[in-house]
Amino acid sequence: MPRLARHLYLRPYVKLSGKLHPGSSGMGLPNRYSRALVYPTERLVDLRLARRSRRRTENNHDLPPPSWQWSLHTLTALPPSQYIQTFYLLASAACLATAALPSDARSLLADYGARKAASSPPAKRDSALVALVAALTSRGQVPHSWFTAFYTLSVCCSLFWAWQFLGSGVVLRGIAERQAGTGPSASLGQTAAVWGMVLVQAGRRVYEHAVVIRASRSTMWWVHWVLGLGFYLFLSVAVWVEGSGKERWLLGGWKVAVAVPVFVFAWVNQYRCHKHLAGLRKYSLPSDGLFSHLVCPHYACECLLYFSLAVAGAPEGQWLNRTLLCATAFAVVNLGVTAAGTRKWYADKFGEEAVAKKWNMIPFVF
Ligand SMILES: NC(=O)c1ccc[n+]([C@@H]2O[C@H](COP(=O)([O-])OP(=O)(O)OC[C@H]3O[C@@H](n4cnc5c(N)ncnc54)[C@H](OP(=O)(O)O)[C@@H]3O)[C@@H](O)[C@H]2O)c1
Repeated sequence: MPRLARHLYLRPYVKLSGKLHPGSSGMGLPNRYSRALVYPTERLVDLRLARRSRRRTENNHDLPPPSWQWSLHTLTALPPSQYIQTFYLLASAACLATAALPSDARSLLADYGARKAASSPPAKRDSALVALVAALTSRGQVPHSWFTAFYTLSVCCSLFWAWQFLGSGVVLRGIAERQAGTGPSASLGQTAAVWGMVLVQAGRRVYEHAVVIRASRSTMWWVHWVLGLGFYLFLSVAVWVEGSGKERWLLGGWKVAVAVPVFVFAWVNQYRCHKHLAGLRKYSLPSDGLFSHLVCPHYACECLLYFSLAVAGAPEGQWLNRTLLCATAFAVVNLGVTAAGTRKWYADKFGEEAVAKKWNMIPFVF
């Protein structure tokens, strides 16, 4: 038999069984006998049993997989972006739940930095909840200046992902492969722009902590610190995860063109706010620039910064990047709760009039 014909003729059997059965010469037409020769007997029995069990399952519609198996399967099938979104949304829900607590418990859990130093401990701890929260938060206080770890981590993560991208690293490839094809993607140019924006922001914050911000003895609960580290760790992946499926550079360039000026505005003004705060006698009422209209303009700038990232990184056909939008939502909720605490602190210290004409964080809204 010519070589090519023999090859074509034998192929179905080679494909079916993986290898030729030693007893099969491969000669003659493919029929159920020659198939039996190619398939070892045990394999045929296996196939028959599998067919019978499939038929039984088809007839028994009342046999769904156990619920834990279903949950595990659903969880492992989720794209990486959804894990990050879930983290941000759960963290936002936790902040909202804290804000809904009675004011003593809320203040113990949510206040940090100067607000915490100012808030006197509740006089009577007759509520079991307040006593429990006071006992919990009295342990594990860390310096407010440890915020610097967030930005150092952010810079390190940005550099790590750049190194992974340039060297086709296995961690980045693993995440990108699980994400690709699960939805529309942002372009490479957009992803590079968002990456740069996050690096520039974190770099400036590292500089501020090293040079601008004055040392203090104010503290925060370790839970705030760990939550902050989680925020920046996930942010470093949120920057590129929705850009996993594109190799083109320019697509969506107009989104970057809109987002960058907003980012620059927020970036510059947040620096001004931090410089103003650093120049104040501890603790006095800030009133320069945006502080004349807002209690916490540096928080407003932070929210605007993240919103601009969500616009810049929006995948094809979408206005916003959902993962970065969830990060923005967390920043809004978290900083909103802190801004409300700051307003109360200033009102207690300088009188209600001092903050009466100011918005907490978002002009005309909050
Ligand atoms: N993405 C997020 O979820 C998130 C979360 C938290 C913070 N951040 C960002 O991180 C930055 C800092 O936040 P923060 O909550 O630490 O701000 P903050 O509590 O207002 O403190 C910022 C700095 O200003 C000082 N300060 C505050 N009020 C002052 C006053 N009345 N007089 C004198 N000094 C004053 C603080 O001193 P002390 O050290 O003595 O308190 C601290 O050094 C903000 O821009 C914020 O947007 C982001």
